[in-house]
Amino acid sequence: EQASKGGYAHFMIKEIEEQPEIIEKTLNIYVDKEKNVKFDEQLEGINFHDIDRIYVVACGTAYYAGLQGQYFMKKLLGIDVFTDIASEFRYNDPVITDKTLAIFVSQSGETIDTLMSMKYAKEKGAKTLAISNVLGSTITREADNVIYTLAGPEISVASTKAYSSQVLVMYLLSLYMGAKLGKLEEKDYLKYISDISLLKENIVKLINEKEKIHEIAKKIKNVKNGFYLGRGIDEKVAREGSLKMKEINYIHTEALPAGELKHGSIALIEKGVLVVAISTNLEMDEKVVSNIKEVKARGAYVVGVCKEGSLVPEVVDDVIQVKDSEELLTPVLAVVGLQFLAYYTSLEKGFDVDKPRNLAKSVTVE
Ligand code: G6P
Repeated sequence: EQASKGGYAHFMIKEIEEQPEIIEKTLNIYVDKEKNVKFDEQLEGINFHDIDRIYVVACGTAYYAGLQGQYFMKKLLGIDVFTDIASEFRYNDPVITDKTLAIFVSQSGETIDTLMSMKYAKEKGAKTLAISNVLGSTITREADNVIYTLAGPEISVASTKAYSSQVLVMYLLSLYMGAKLGKLEEKDYLKYISDISLLKENIVKLINEKEKIHEIAKKIKNVKNGFYLGRGIDEKVAREGSLKMKEINYIHTEALPAGELKHGSIALIEKGVLVVAISTNLEMDEKVVSNIKEVKARGAYVVGVCKEGSLVPEVVDDVIQVKDSEELLTPVLAVVGLQFLAYYTSLEKGFDVDKPRNLAKSVTVE
């Protein structure tokens, strides 16, 4: 086992740091020299002009990746995209017709709730697309179409590289669909493709500065409660960041839309409570700053996660600063920062990072 960790203390940090290579590999395999996304074979039989609604369904981290995918598809395609948690999908009466594309995201391809949701969608007439990391897994055998993520085996129970590779596949899928549907101008399309390499470079930069995040982890390791806040896509970043913190640190954290805090949860803010505030979209920066001031005034310890140009560093106790990887992909970089934060907190607490209590890598009971 030690050997397969390649010199790292844990699989989790090894897998976090593999993310740039996986991005590179994904680009090499799924994007050709002319910058076309090569999904023709994977998406054979789907006529995107006939699709009027998309569902993205998954559990856990794959669900949060799905929320990022939804954001890309809505932004780039202007099509109705709904995301649901697989254990709820069937009970939410989804409106499914033969014009529905239902996308199921599962690292393992064996999560029972996701498999049952796919069966349900298929019975209702949807076209089903699985995004999975495991060759020949149940989901890949049962879906109409399959796109593989190229993360390689993920050992750590807390998912990291699978998340970013799922997000990347959905980003490429959105660009592929955008091109097919004539929704993207060529110059925009090319820019979106080159932003992927920028994201990769910026993850490398973040890895090089990981010790700064380690220092923050030392300061927050004893907190008992935390809130992760963000607006828009950053609220989705907050959810994945909060999940990572819970999974391997047993710290109770909750993710909230920053603007919703005042409708209840702010009653819990007092000295000793951690707030992680995310701001990767400068348009909403001022509002996030004002939410931070509200929690600081009540004694919270605030860690900001933001990009250059944000005013967040001026009002927080600590900051994880990420480079600007453009509007669509900077949130992914913020998630990598939060993966490090959860990892180093667990390291400092002395927990079994790769095998947290009560959790399994894939869940095959409903
Ligand atoms: C478990 C794992 C999570 C994972 C979720 C969905 O809860 O601990 O890391 O995100 O299952 O797994 P899947 O294999 O379907 O992506």
